Amino acid sequence: MEWHENEEYWEVLAPLMFNEERMAAASDEVDAIVGLLELEPNSAVLDLACGIGRHSVELAKRGHRVTGVDSTKHYIKEAKARCKEESVNVEFIHQDMRRFQRGGTFHAALNMRTSFGHFPRGEDEQVIRNVANSLRPGGHFLMELAGPGILNEPPKGMKTYTMEGMDFWEEFKVDLEAKRIEHRFKIDLDGEQREFSDGYRIYSPKEMTEMMELAGLDVIGIYSDLGGTELMDNDRMMVVVAMKPE
Ligand SMILES: C[S@@+](CC[C@H](N)C(=O)[O-])C[C@H]1O[C@@H](n2cnc3c(N)ncnc32)[C@H](O)[C@@H]1O
Repeated sequence: MEWHENEEYWEVLAPLMFNEERMAAASDEVDAIVGLLELEPNSAVLDLACGIGRHSVELAKRGHRVTGVDSTKHYIKEAKARCKEESVNVEFIHQDMRRFQRGGTFHAALNMRTSFGHFPRGEDEQVIRNVANSLRPGGHFLMELAGPGILNEPPKGMKTYTMEGMDFWEEFKVDLEAKRIEHRFKIDLDGEQREFSDGYRIYSPKEMTEMMELAGLDVIGIYSDLGGTELMDNDRMMVVVAMKPE
């Protein structure tokens, strides 16, 4: 089993990934996304790798028709419960983004917070092709992913720290040729030490543009944040906006 297919990995990391700060940030992030994509009211929006629906719920609150797709069962369950609490409607689908597509349906698609680069190159390309196929002509795709600064100054070595009340021991390795960051961590769970690993391919702006074009999408902007700030070589996050031609 690949690391990203391990439900337990996502369950263990949920308190970090969806901490108070991240949850609180979602509303402003969605305002920025709506502005950046010039989303019309009542748009059909795909939130791909939606997690527990941080952005799906906010988009639905603003009157959009949202479909959230994620391969972690536990997150989809939590996302549905959050919708109930917030009295909004979102269609949540438990599915792998390498497979999900729904031809010509969406006005916009999102893939937020480094939910890309998990797979071998051909499968990452397949994810973009699926999105391109699922968009209507004129539809936009926004990705928020790791920026070029990660490879220019990669995380290295071992460290220990405590976050959200959990003790971590972690080690990073970088393969500059393969442009991959490998990450291994141990964590104390109720007195038992568990070990997990993950790995990400870091794509350059040029590679992202090539992959979008290969899928038939035109890149209309690459930024360092959702505010549309110009991307610099040392930026550790990157936002790519592409459009399916009319
Ligand atoms: C870093 S989280 C981001 C979640 C969400 N986009 C957010 O910003 O809160 C990455 C998400 O990717 C999902 N994921 C990982 N592999 C996936 C796959 N093959 N298909 C669909 N979702 C996947 C995980 O379950 C997780 O929810």
